[in-house]
Amino acid sequence: MEYRWLGGSELRVSAIGLGTLPFGGAYGPLDEGEAAAVVHRALDWGINFFDTSDNYGHGRAEELLGRALRGRRSRAIVATKGGTAVDARGRTANDARPETILRAAEESLKRLGTDWIDLYQVHLPDPATPVDDTAQALERLVQAGKVRYVGVSNFWEEDLLAWLDVSPAAANQMPYNFLHRDIEDGLLPLCRERGIGLIAYQPLIFGLFAGRIGPETAFAHQDHRRAYPGFGELIRATAGLRARLAALAREWGLTPAQLALRWAISRPGVTCAIPGAKRPEQVEENARAGERPFTSDELGEIDRILMEFQISAARMVDLPVEEVRDGPRGRYAVLAMGIKVRVPHGVQAGDMVAMDIVTGRLEEVHGGGDPRGKA
Ligand SMILES: NC(=O)c1ccc[n+]([C@@H]2O[C@H](COP(=O)([O-])OP(=O)(O)OC[C@H]3O[C@@H](n4cnc5c(N)ncnc54)[C@H](OP(=O)(O)O)[C@@H]3O)[C@@H](O)[C@H]2O)c1
Repeated sequence: MEYRWLGGSELRVSAIGLGTLPFGGAYGPLDEGEAAAVVHRALDWGINFFDTSDNYGHGRAEELLGRALRGRRSRAIVATKGGTAVDARGRTANDARPETILRAAEESLKRLGTDWIDLYQVHLPDPATPVDDTAQALERLVQAGKVRYVGVSNFWEEDLLAWLDVSPAAANQMPYNFLHRDIEDGLLPLCRERGIGLIAYQPLIFGLFAGRIGPETAFAHQDHRRAYPGFGELIRATAGLRARLAALAREWGLTPAQLALRWAISRPGVTCAIPGAKRPEQVEENARAGERPFTSDELGEIDRILMEFQISAARMVDLPVEEVRDGPRGRYAVLAMGIKVRVPHGVQAGDMVAMDIVTGRLEEVHGGGDPRGKA
């Protein structure tokens, strides 16, 4: 396993980490014994970086990770996230107010059964809260020895620059995989330039590029892939591409998952990838992708295949705007799902906005708002 410094921090993380979203039940039920088996196999195969969040299964993922690491805590670098809260209507929305962060971090420490969190990440930008208020709360946690390093997640260029104006960040956690390469345009170069680690999440696109999902796959009742917009269409649209990549993986003595993961960690600027896993065999297979990065020739060969296939899977969802408010960095809207996003002037309550489900960016406004406005 290769190990890499995470940004300017003293955390040396495995190039393949473990994502624990599945521990919260998002991929169907997973019990304590199964989660422990995954974590222990990860450690056996050199994985030392574990990513979780206070909102995966309402804290269950943190609990299961914490229990699995009992007696093994010093071998692990634990990253969690805060900065979301359940609103009055029961929806999970971004909330990075200092009081929310301070309370959430204490609760995470308890659930994880640890005295310190190695990396505490702001889960997503909160346009309703001044960034320096959030940063100061995190600094208090660092001063108290409860958090070693601060990171951010889902911070695109503008949000990251606003954050860096007031506070450092060890890392930014972003979606990155064969189909979602948006970070390559501006964010990845920015992170490299500023010495910020890049943690690639959803590197297998919910397991789609691991070679075992097809049109006939039946997902468990609670599995979020059943409800994810356009996932069925994505399975169909990527069949040819996945077959080509699987053939290349075979030729190189890799599995499809290993090809996808090694590709992600080979991009200059990407520190590590954090695939989720539900079974020890999966984590072992994934860990082997971290033995070495691809050479530029190998990367070029994969990129040629990716360019041949133009996958036009739907990424936009239409959402009604419930409210529009003025925030510290301009106007923002509360969307029907509870999420707050910055919006251009002219957007009003009752408008429909098209949101990119990968980037969280608004691309279009229908209704009374300015249709040319971009958030
Ligand atoms: N910062 C954020 O906003 C954010 C958002 C999402 C996720 N994340 C983090 O990123 C991590 C990764 O994302 P993810 O877990 O959603 O997606 P992912 O890593 O793309 O896919 C994980 C799923 O793929 C399947 N899988 C994994 N390894 C496999 C293998 N070797 N062979 C076959 N199937 C395999 C498993 O599901 P099946 O076996 O059921 O197919 C697993 O649950 C999360 O766990 C979480 O820590 C962060």
